Amino acid sequence: MKIRTGIIGIGSMGQGHLKTLLNDVPACEVVAVCDIDENRLTEAMGKGLLDVNIRQFTSYTELIDSGSCDAVIVVTPHPLHPEISIYAFGKGLHVLCDKPVAITVSGAEKMIAAWKKSKVKFSTMYSMRSTAVNKVIKDWIAQGRLGKINRVDMVCTKWLRSQKYYDEQTWRGTWKGEGAGLLLNQAPHNLDLLYWWFGPADAISAQASTRFHNIETEDEVEARIKTKAGFPVRFYSSTGEAPGMDRIEIVGTNGTLVKDGSTLVFHELENASDNVIGESAKGMVEIPCTVKNVEVPQAERGHKIVFRDFFDAIISNRENSGMISPGDEGIHSLEWANAMLMSSVEGREIKLPLNRKKYDKLLDDLINWGKKL
Ligand SMILES: NC(=O)c1ccc[n+]([C@@H]2O[C@H](COP(=O)([O-])OP(=O)(O)OC[C@H]3O[C@@H](n4cnc5c(N)ncnc54)[C@H](O)[C@@H]3O)[C@@H](O)[C@H]2O)c1
Repeated sequence: MKIRTGIIGIGSMGQGHLKTLLNDVPACEVVAVCDIDENRLTEAMGKGLLDVNIRQFTSYTELIDSGSCDAVIVVTPHPLHPEISIYAFGKGLHVLCDKPVAITVSGAEKMIAAWKKSKVKFSTMYSMRSTAVNKVIKDWIAQGRLGKINRVDMVCTKWLRSQKYYDEQTWRGTWKGEGAGLLLNQAPHNLDLLYWWFGPADAISAQASTRFHNIETEDEVEARIKTKAGFPVRFYSSTGEAPGMDRIEIVGTNGTLVKDGSTLVFHELENASDNVIGESAKGMVEIPCTVKNVEVPQAERGHKIVFRDFFDAIISNRENSGMISPGDEGIHSLEWANAMLMSSVEGREIKLPLNRKKYDKLLDDLINWGKKL
């Protein structure tokens, strides 16, 4: 069985998804594509990605109303994600909406409400959840292997972007076109992992700045997330650093797990640190520690895995929550990203849940202001 699928937005990522769906996802049959810019369709044809069996549209409503698709992949600029997805849900189509699902938590809530009224699957593209090293970390935390977690530090700067990247699409790096910069375009992948691993937060404080590019929106953020579980997560990301790092330290009472790219190392303590702190007869103490490489299995990863899972969930009518990257879970990293921007603009810690109305007003003000942070 193949699911008849349309792709809405045939820009750089849309063409990438088209290639992946044609080559690596047997349960998907791409039957239609849509872009308001006909040049993007011509470009895709020039690359040999479209043939006569794939219908071409310049209006997403026409594609959805054509009856030719059972599912759509939404890959337009993010401010359009809710509008297009809500239209598709209303017509009974399954939706995989690329990240971020929306630019405001209030927008994501409207999407989720529309999806809940439908009987379709809703996924998003948090493909880093499919990476083996990230799954091993998830398992270690779930199994409590680190003991009680004391702190987490994440540095993710493998997002180097040139000025050309922002200049080549007018929407990028603008408040109106994207609603934020790094926080909504690149960092959502990392924020999603943090939520996936460590769960919800009580409060967030952050400093976002525009340091490396001539754009309005932020290209650097440092943040402190107070998790409900009681430990702090420090987070740094930028699109202006080289060589990029993808590094996490998770410090628990049993030792420290360090991810550096695809490698994972455990600094295992001989005695749990909380026991030594509570019970040692000495004042100044050191705990013997063994450094061990953690085995990470070789496995396929990336967009194709999330796509295969989405189509399998449709065919087998699996629970939405059983997918690798359920669409409604996209709201969590989005709420954190919104809170980080609000904290930076207002210079204070933001308690969660975020005040939706105040955030929408703040974004309107930034759009009207139209200047860099
Ligand atoms: N999952 C990932 O790893 C990943 C990577 C890159 C981008 N993305 C996401 O993909 C989305 C698109 O990013 P991009 O870099 O491909 O941008 P892009 O500008 O290259 O492509 C967007 C396309 O959408 C088209 N479009 C705009 N309005 C439309 C409408 N109303 N109907 C149909 N088409 C419309 C544009 O003409 C353009 O061709 C963004 O939300 C981005 O966050 C995800």
